Amino acid sequence: MTDTPIRLADYRPPSHLVDSVSLVFRLAPGETRVLSEIRFRPNPALPGRHDLRLDGEGLKLVSAAVDGAPVTASPDATGLTLPAGSLPGGAFTFTAEVEIDPAANTALEGLYMSNGMYCTQCEAEGFRKITFYPDRPDVMAPFRVRIESDLPVLLSNGNEVASGPGWAEWHDPWPKPSYLFALVAGDLVAHSAGYTTMSGRDVALNIWVRPGDEARCGYAMDSLIRSMTWDEEVYGREYDLDVFNIVAVDDFNMGAMENKGLNIFNSKYVLALPETATDDDFARIEAIIAHEYFHNWTGNRVTCRDWFQLCLKEGLTVFRDQQFSSDMRSAAVKRIEDVLTLRARQFREDDGPLAHPVRPEDYIEINNFYTATVYEKGAEVIGMLKRLVGDEAYDRALDLYFQRHDGQAATIEDWLTVFEDATGRDLSQFKLWYSEAGTPRLKVSDRFEAGRYTLEFEQVNPPTPDQPVKRPKVIPIAVGLLNPNGDEVVPTTVLEMTEPRQSFTFDGLASRPVPSILRGFSAPVVLERETSPEERAFLLAHDTDPFNKWEAGRALAKDVLARMVTEGAQPGPDWLDALARVAVDDALDPAFRALSLRLPGEDDMAHTLHSAGHVPDPARIHAARERMAEALAQRLEPQLGALIDALAEPGPFSPEARAAGRRALRLAALGLVTRRDGGARAEAAFRAANNMTEEVGALACLLEIGRGQEELGLFETRWSRDRLVMDKWFALQILHAAPDQTGATVERLTTHPAFEWKNPNRFRSVIGALSANHAGFHHASGAGYRLLADWLIRLDPLNPQTAARMSTAFETRARYDADRQAMMVAELDRILAAPSLSRDLGEMAGRMRR
Ligand code: ARG
Ligand code: ZN
Repeated sequence: MTDTPIRLADYRPPSHLVDSVSLVFRLAPGETRVLSEIRFRPNPALPGRHDLRLDGEGLKLVSAAVDGAPVTASPDATGLTLPAGSLPGGAFTFTAEVEIDPAANTALEGLYMSNGMYCTQCEAEGFRKITFYPDRPDVMAPFRVRIESDLPVLLSNGNEVASGPGWAEWHDPWPKPSYLFALVAGDLVAHSAGYTTMSGRDVALNIWVRPGDEARCGYAMDSLIRSMTWDEEVYGREYDLDVFNIVAVDDFNMGAMENKGLNIFNSKYVLALPETATDDDFARIEAIIAHEYFHNWTGNRVTCRDWFQLCLKEGLTVFRDQQFSSDMRSAAVKRIEDVLTLRARQFREDDGPLAHPVRPEDYIEINNFYTATVYEKGAEVIGMLKRLVGDEAYDRALDLYFQRHDGQAATIEDWLTVFEDATGRDLSQFKLWYSEAGTPRLKVSDRFEAGRYTLEFEQVNPPTPDQPVKRPKVIPIAVGLLNPNGDEVVPTTVLEMTEPRQSFTFDGLASRPVPSILRGFSAPVVLERETSPEERAFLLAHDTDPFNKWEAGRALAKDVLARMVTEGAQPGPDWLDALARVAVDDALDPAFRALSLRLPGEDDMAHTLHSAGHVPDPARIHAARERMAEALAQRLEPQLGALIDALAEPGPFSPEARAAGRRALRLAALGLVTRRDGGARAEAAFRAANNMTEEVGALACLLEIGRGQEELGLFETRWSRDRLVMDKWFALQILHAAPDQTGATVERLTTHPAFEWKNPNRFRSVIGALSANHAGFHHASGAGYRLLADWLIRLDPLNPQTAARMSTAFETRARYDADRQAMMVAELDRILAAPSLSRDLGEMAGRMRR
């Protein structure tokens, strides 16, 4: 296998452009015929005559011709070259007929089958598994598609232009790259609605699902309509076709896909009823529906020149979906949740062998770069840009971006130039956020004399693989100052740091203030400042910035937990009292209180301890965190019963944020009570639950204390025919298994008849849960590592994308002791020696093995 890296520096414009594409699909499970007619013309930007390279993988070529003359060249393993000498000097038509086998496609990339339905996933490079084509995003064309099949529902991109018994024709007038192509054929039913855009276009909205699931689409549809309205109101962007179709499929490698006019979703992010979906599921559905819809402008109308520019569409679209969710819900809670995710996934990635810049410079398999860095850090970079230029300038820049680049395949340079032109700012230093990997450390010291308060910052940009030396970044640091009595004396001000070391002064202060630094998490950095527990408790009580208020409590908890792990300390009354006050403060949003009661995660603690120079012991971290929860339960015991009763939601279930926040706090309290009452309240709550949030929440409380076996049985009986709910049943038992039991639980569940491991959701709910149970996965026996490697080796030949993605459990290897490191190395070596190792998993294991 020749796994040569693709490099950004090697980008060359396409030799030919495409004026139109016409495709015919004769669908049959084992042998689908694809007929293509592609109108090419030489790229005027490239003088001279050039070969035309068409990508194509796993295609059986039946026939091909140029302007009717048969092509004599034959395809190689990755495509077909039409030599310059065999091509006319001007425009020409390439026609081909190929045969593919969607029924045998287990990789879920290209055209494949899921429960008797045909569907596609083309991003990033799946279209080449459908027919011969220049499968690169800078080649854009309008598509016509004819589908021939006996299945009742036949869908493709754009508008349906004609149909008859056994066929349908679709036309997408908007030029698009091949990765946005989609086709669906199946026995489906629609949940439909209508929408009129701001300029008066009537759009038919359909969510296509299997018969029986149509009652579960209401929340997704509602989220779609709110997304369409929001994008008009906030970004001035409206929808541009007569129909917007969404299809839910059970077998899908990722969350969802923004194909033009035909979004395809993992059914997990569409189907929801209060009885089957948790509050977190509802929130994710809302966010992903919005995300894919927003791609219509940020991704489809303006697309990426090449895959190195992936963050151009993903960072911006994540930023937009985060803005949308903050507007729909609590902005403060949303920010805290986003930062929790960023730290758990992106900071972890940045600190290990898989670290890469937001815009990578080389890759072997592009599917391995749909990462937290490209997505979540990509969104943070845009948030910083907005903070630096201001809201009004951001809006102007976005208008200019759409105006200038509509219909184009753009780059990060184009994006930054738009901001420079709109604001007059020089963004050359800012651009380092795109080109340099790693999480900057921000050290802070302060002094106060004669009414002047000085904050001094030093930024340290640690080395990452292949990037030993880093330059100073532009860091927007949002700061506020509080009086010792808790009043805010300096409201939030954004300091713009550009130097390795820089000081900022505040004059005219009567006494030494307490600083609130990095408010709203204004930059994706690690703040390093020696802070006393008293000061943290003070900020937890008084900070007016909700993010930093939460952050103070979080930092306090992490300090306490760190000392419990390293010194065997007990949690002192300071932390317990401060947290107890937050828990029962009815002036605070229940969702905020629930987040404050959530103890630091074990993986997060391992990361923090490692950064502080310790070798984390997963078993000790787990035990300490258990003691921490016990202490909190004991401290709060007198208040918990009343808190739980007061939070009961009367009336019918509402998925909106206010009600969800109350449920979250109620379940946090239930988790603590369960540690005191042996499970009596949780058992009752499980039986009384009329929604999945409480049903699964109560069950989790019981599993945490080693009970809940009977409830697991009841749950399984009740939900055995519901795939999405059964995914939760599998995951829960592993996530909440004691460290000594985790491996055995996984082994038992992988022999369960419902463990359909070829389904990515089910695989993730078992094998993903294994690596999410920190102490279980890192068990000293090495059983967790072995199990994961066994399953990756088994899945890889069938579904390399999902196998590669799940292998990142090994990215934290360097944190741990020599024994664990050696065992992880052995498993990586075993993966690397697998006989049919994919490029996907091979690249990942290779990078983690270095
Ligand atoms: N563009 C999709 C999204 O962010 C992700 C699809 C990625 N798929 C893949 N196989 N790499 O919404
Ligand atoms: Zn996306």
